[in-house]
Amino acid sequence: MTAASANDIEFRSVTKRYGSVTAVTDINLTVPKGAFVALLGPSGCGKTTCLRMIGGFEQPSEGTVLIDGREMNGVPPYRRAVNMVFQHYALFPHFDVEQNVAYGLKQARPKLASSEISARARQALEMVRLGGFEKRRIHEMSGGQQQRVALARAIVNKPSVLLLDEPLAALDKKLRTAMQIELQTLQRELGITFVLVTHDQEEALSMSDMVCVMNAGRIVQMAKPQDVYDKPADLFVADFVGKTNRIMATVEADGATLRLSNGTALPAGSGLKPGVATVALRPEAIELARQAGRDGGVLAGTVTHRIFLGSTAEYQISVDGLGDFLVTADRRSVQESDLVEPGERVVLTFDPGKVHVFPA
Ligand SMILES: Nc1ncnc2c1ncn2[C@@H]1O[C@H](COP(=O)(O)OP(=O)(O)OP(=O)(O)O)[C@@H](O)[C@H]1O
Ligand SMILES: [Mg+2]
Repeated sequence: MTAASANDIEFRSVTKRYGSVTAVTDINLTVPKGAFVALLGPSGCGKTTCLRMIGGFEQPSEGTVLIDGREMNGVPPYRRAVNMVFQHYALFPHFDVEQNVAYGLKQARPKLASSEISARARQALEMVRLGGFEKRRIHEMSGGQQQRVALARAIVNKPSVLLLDEPLAALDKKLRTAMQIELQTLQRELGITFVLVTHDQEEALSMSDMVCVMNAGRIVQMAKPQDVYDKPADLFVADFVGKTNRIMATVEADGATLRLSNGTALPAGSGLKPGVATVALRPEAIELARQAGRDGGVLAGTVTHRIFLGSTAEYQISVDGLGDFLVTADRRSVQESDLVEPGERVVLTFDPGKVHVFPA
C-alpha cells in the first residue's frame, strides 16, 4: 500500500508466542492518526508485548502489524517512524543527561548543527521538568528522574508515534499528575499518536481518547474512557476499571425480574436471558440513609467501617443476606450530620438502571 493510511497502527489477528508461552492471542486493534490510546490491564496480560511488536523489538508469531498502512513484518526498529519509552528506561549510563537526550538527534541525517541539538535537548528536558540537570550522570539521578530522562529522549525526536511503557510508574502522585497533563498537552500540540501502557486505571481513563482493556493476552474491550467505566463489557472490566460490588443473582423466567441472592427483586433491564447471573454495582451509584424513620430503600445493612479519603468517604456496609458492600459518598453533597457512623443501621438506595448484569 502506498497511500497514507488514516490509521497509524493496525494489528490484524496478531498472536505472539515465546516458546510454549502465548503472550497475546488474536489481537485486532486500530489506532487512528493522532489518537491517544491506552493499553490497560493487569501484570502479565501482554501490554509490553504489544508495544514491542509496534516498535519492532518483537515479531508476531501470527498475523500482521501495520504502521501507516504498511506491513511491518521483518522491518527493524530503526526503520519505523516510532519511538519507544521502555518500561526499564535503558539509558546510557556512561553519558550525562543531555547526552542521553541528544543521542537520537546526533544520528539524524542530514546532520543537525550542534547548537540546535543542544537547544532541542534542553527544551525536551524543560518539558519533563529537568532543566538544570543537563550535566548530571545517569547514576546520580533518582529512579523518577531517570524515567523523565527516558521520556525526554523519546520526545526530542518528535516521532509520529510515541510508545510509552509505564512512563510515569516511578513518580510520586503529584509529579505524576503534572506529567500526565504535560504529556497530554504535548500530544495535542504535536499531533503525535500516543500508545500508553499502564496498569493504572485512573491514568488510562484520565489521559486517553480510547482505552483498550486487556486480560490474559486478549483485548476484552476497546472504547472511550467513559464507556469503559459506564458500560463495562464483562465482569473483568467492571472489576478492573474502578471499584464494583458483585452480587449473585438470577434473571427469572419472565426475563423481567432480577432476583438477588437475598431474595430482593429488581426490575431487570431488557434483553436478559433467564438464568444465573452476576450483578455489578458501582459504590458511587448507591445512596445511604439512616434506617430509622425511613421506609423503602432497596437493601438494608449495618455500617462496619468508614474511611475518609479527603473529598469522599468510603463505607463498608454489611448488607443483610448479601455480605460486604462498598459505598462511596461525595462529601460535598452530604451534610456533616448525614454522615453515618460504624454500627448504625442504614438503607441503601440505587437506580436499578445502574446495575450491570453479566450472565454466568
Ligand atoms: N521474552 C519472553 N519469554 C518468555 N515469556 C515472555 C517473554 N516476554 C514476556 N513473556 C510472557 O508473556 C506474557 C506477557 O508479558 P508482557 O511483558 O507483555 O506483560 P505486561 O502486560 O507488560 O505485564 P507488566 O504489567 O507486568 O509489565 C507474560 O506471561 C510473560 O511472562
Ligand atoms: Mg509490561
